[in-house]
Amino acid sequence: MEPYRPRRSVLYVPASNDKALAKIAQLSCDAIIIDLEDAVAPADKIAAREKLAGIFANRPARRCEMVVRVNALASEWGADDLLAVAKFEPDGILLSKVATPRDILEVGDVLDDNFAPDSVKLWAMIETPKALLNIGAIAELGRDPASRLACFVAGTNDLVKDTGVLATPDRRYLVPWLMQMVLAARAGGLDMLDGVSNDFRDLEAFARECAEGAAMGFDGKTLIHPAQIDAANRAFAPAPAALAEAQLVKDAFSLAENAGKGVISLNGKMVERLHLAQAEKLLAKAAAIGA
Ligand code: COA
Ligand code: MG
Repeated sequence: MEPYRPRRSVLYVPASNDKALAKIAQLSCDAIIIDLEDAVAPADKIAAREKLAGIFANRPARRCEMVVRVNALASEWGADDLLAVAKFEPDGILLSKVATPRDILEVGDVLDDNFAPDSVKLWAMIETPKALLNIGAIAELGRDPASRLACFVAGTNDLVKDTGVLATPDRRYLVPWLMQMVLAARAGGLDMLDGVSNDFRDLEAFARECAEGAAMGFDGKTLIHPAQIDAANRAFAPAPAALAEAQLVKDAFSLAENAGKGVISLNGKMVERLHLAQAEKLLAKAAAIGA
C-alpha cells in the first residue's frame, strides 16, 4: 500500500493571479492546485499557461503537492495545457469535466507518449451528471497503477449548475452524490476531496462544512482562500479523542493474554481485529502529519 499522503487542505490558486501565486511558499496547505481552467478568463489562458515555468521554479521547499488543473482536452486549450504541464512533472494533473473512463485513459496515453514519469498522477473532477452516472467505472481505474488515477475532487459548483439543485448551507441536495463519490473512491482505492465553500468570509460555516465532510469520509477539502487552510487541516486530521481510543485498542491487542484472540472486550465494548487495523491506520496517519 502507498504511504499516507496528507491531502487535508488543497488550495486552488489561479495561474493568472500573481499576488496569490506569490503567497504559495508561506501557506500551510497540504497541496496546491494551480488552476488554468475556471478561475482563468479565456483571454488570459495562454499567459496563465506561460507562468507555469516560474511557478515550478519557485515551488515550496516544504512538503506540498503541486497539482495543475488543465482545461478539458476537448477545449481549444486542453491539449496544449497538458503538454506544457507534463514537462514540469507535477505531482498531479487535475482533469476537469471528466465524464467517462476513456477521458482518463486518453490523457494517460498522452503522458506515456511524452515520457512523463510514473510519479505524475491524474486527479479527476467529479462535477458533471455523466461523471456521477459512470463513477464506478471511472473509480475502477484506480486499481490499475498504469492509469495514474489517484484522486477524485468533488466539483460542487458545476454540479449545482448542471443539475439545477438548490445550494443550501447544509448541502442537503448534494449529500447523496457526495456520498456516492466517497463510496466509489474507496472502491477504487482513491483519495476523495470535498468541494469548495464559496463563502470564504464565514469561517464558522466553513468549519462546520469541514466537519461534515470529514464525517462523510472525505480525505480533505478543496479551498479557494488561504483563510480556509487552518480549519481544513484541523478537521481532516485525526481527532485527539479518536487517537487516544486507537492507542487503547492497539495496547489491548498487544497484551500477551490477547495475542491469539480475534475479538476482545474493552471497556464494555466489543473490539475486533478489524478495529485494530483501523486504529493502526489512524495512528499512522497522525504520525505522518505530525499530530
Ligand atoms: N491562493 C493564494 N492566495 C490567495 C488566494 C488563493 N486562492 N486567494 C486570495 N489570496 C490572497 C490575496 O491575493 C490577498 O493577498 P494580499 O494580502 O497580498 O493582497 C490575500 O490572500 C487576501 O485575499 P482577499 O482580499 O481576502 O481576497 P481577494 O478578494 O483577493 O480574492 C478570490 C478572493 C475569491 C477572488 C480569491 O480568493 C480566489 O481567486 N480564489 C481562488 C478561486 C479559484 O481558484 N477558483 C477555481 C476553483 S473553485
Ligand atoms: Mg468546474
